[in-house]
Amino acid sequence: MTNERRWREVDDYFAATIVAADRALGEALAANAAAGLPSIDVSAPQGKLLHLLAKMSGARRALEIGTLGGYSTIWLASALPEDGRLITLEWSARHAEVARHNVDRAGLGGRVEIRQGAALETLPKIEAEGLGPFDFVFIDADKENNPAYLEWALRLSRPGTAIVVDNVVRGGEVADARSRDPDVVGIRRMFDLIAREPRLSATAIQTVGAKGWDGFALALVR
Ligand SMILES: C[S@@+](CC[C@H](N)C(=O)[O-])C[C@H]1O[C@@H](n2cnc3c(N)ncnc32)[C@H](O)[C@@H]1O
Repeated sequence: MTNERRWREVDDYFAATIVAADRALGEALAANAAAGLPSIDVSAPQGKLLHLLAKMSGARRALEIGTLGGYSTIWLASALPEDGRLITLEWSARHAEVARHNVDRAGLGGRVEIRQGAALETLPKIEAEGLGPFDFVFIDADKENNPAYLEWALRLSRPGTAIVVDNVVRGGEVADARSRDPDVVGIRRMFDLIAREPRLSATAIQTVGAKGWDGFALALVR
């Protein structure tokens, strides 16, 4: 049996035993597939991890960069109190439309605002509208812009804000200083920023599972 198959089986086992993904989450994945969206959402155990981290940090206001069909959005928004708010940023109009339906079907439409456009254009507007600071930020869009997204996350944060960044391992290439892959370069620059930033305390964790070998970074604003 390949490692990948085993990793998927273990994720399936966790999903079936303790993760408790509700019907709306399964329906969101089905709607994403029907609409032809790529299957690059977080896995169910990872989504539940985001949900628990948001709850543990007592988040009321959350920001997500990279919505896709709203699968992680639903996990995060369902961790917020009823009067909480999640703003999620998505470049693709098609993805944003599918996400809107998924979030509404999950009964979370009142808590979630989807802003369509390039995040580097929508983030300044969010700041100008005074919508920060956010208690929880999830960065999961185009990886080459991760340094800028991290800087925006800091601008829109307060002491105690948790920042999570997905897909930081790149098949191990993140450890290769000579890589010219723009995604890897973006992630390494983001880690350089984190390392130099006295306001952040951070770590990164490698993961295996249904989505293969990957990992996430977690930073806390001091
Ligand atoms: C990995 S997917 C997000 C997955 C989602 N967070 C989940 O787990 O369900 C990345 C998303 O970022 C979007 N994206 C790419 N470039 C972007 C940009 N410049 N601004 C905003 N969103 C962008 C893509 O269209 C895609 O839907």
